[in-house]
Amino acid sequence: MEQGEFADTGRDGRALIMREIYLDYNASTPIDPVVVDAMRPLLESTFGNPSSDHSAGTAAKTALEIARREVAGLLGCAADEVVFTSGGSEANNLALKGVFFALKDKGNHIVTSAIEHPATITTCKFLERLGAKVTYLPVDHHGRIDPDDLRRAITLKTILISIMHANNEVGTIEPIEEISQIARKHGALLHTDAAQSVGKIVTDVNILGVDLLSMAGHKFYAPKGVGALYVRRGTPLEPLIHGADHESGRRAGTESVLLAVALGTASTLARDLLPMKHVRGLRDHFWQALHTRFTHRVVLNGHSEYRLPNTLNVAFPNHVGADILARLDGVAASTGSACHSGRVELSPVLKAMGIRPDVGMGAIRFSLGRYTAIEEIDAVVDRLTDVLAAGSSLNAKPPSLVEGTDRCPL
Ligand SMILES: Cc1ncc(COP(=O)(O)O)c(C=O)c1O
Repeated sequence: MEQGEFADTGRDGRALIMREIYLDYNASTPIDPVVVDAMRPLLESTFGNPSSDHSAGTAAKTALEIARREVAGLLGCAADEVVFTSGGSEANNLALKGVFFALKDKGNHIVTSAIEHPATITTCKFLERLGAKVTYLPVDHHGRIDPDDLRRAITLKTILISIMHANNEVGTIEPIEEISQIARKHGALLHTDAAQSVGKIVTDVNILGVDLLSMAGHKFYAPKGVGALYVRRGTPLEPLIHGADHESGRRAGTESVLLAVALGTASTLARDLLPMKHVRGLRDHFWQALHTRFTHRVVLNGHSEYRLPNTLNVAFPNHVGADILARLDGVAASTGSACHSGRVELSPVLKAMGIRPDVGMGAIRFSLGRYTAIEEIDAVVDRLTDVLAAGSSLNAKPPSLVEGTDRCPL
């Protein structure tokens, strides 16, 4: 199958090849063919345990350590500061729980934001049950935190600040460098969830000034089920998984050399941010076309400048995003709203940004990537025009908000 095609099963059980316009790269990317090629020898021959002393083990160990160096090369850190994990969720859990368990005698206060991914928010909620005090910083209408709010939130008990580098839903980029200076001044550690920013913008840990950084392979052309946590040398961290001395005692379990190699290869590819210039151009073309076509009937969510180059979150006020997507045949994208029994739920991110319910319920996240073509963008704008023209039936009743949902586009 070619890129953008997917198999579905027809009534008679035969596989049908469908052509889909895939605009959900923030949810997951295809695996780059170069990454697939790099994985092949691990599937076919390099099967040894990297902890074994014989030649099969040494070959696996060599592949693992090359991969670690490749990830370090992308992040601008030393190889021994990279811990392989099963993905972004585990990396966030290891950062938050690892620091909390290691430093709970020093302090119990964590500062995060209201728009973090559930992998951070629910981990914080769990730590609250164990005695942590967590401050969830508000964001402005564009999804940015105010560094002054952080300054005010820090106490003598603050051990960790965890603010995402870029938001998955609206793409807003947080002022991590400024946050880093505040963290340093107050002696708190800084973690950033860079699952969405790696491969899209610069994620050098020294430029950002972070102590811990999470990444997720399937957001930048590696497979699902692999990620990494950068841990600055000297950062206290209790492992989540205890066992033998893998990953320098920070994560027990025989390493998946296959997935580490995939992550390493994807990291090397991700050092070249030039393709993102093209993606940004397509994204801006998309927004211009929507704006020309729908004028005041379409609204941009997220920051106009500090935003991931591939992310376009738009809202069609007084429509329901999920309804539009359901009618937008052959287009894969995500929505920030969900409809249950006639009631519309806004995602926590849009709610925290103070987006009006009648606007936010019509939100759709389009996220572009390396394989997006301009013809696909133009086709989606045309299809949206048809869907919205067809649509008095798409007009929703004034929504009543359902509180406490944790739904959001991942
Ligand atoms: C910002 C952010 N953090 C963390 C994650 C979780 O990553 P994973 O799916 O690899 O566990 C995601 C993925 O949806 C994400 O977008």
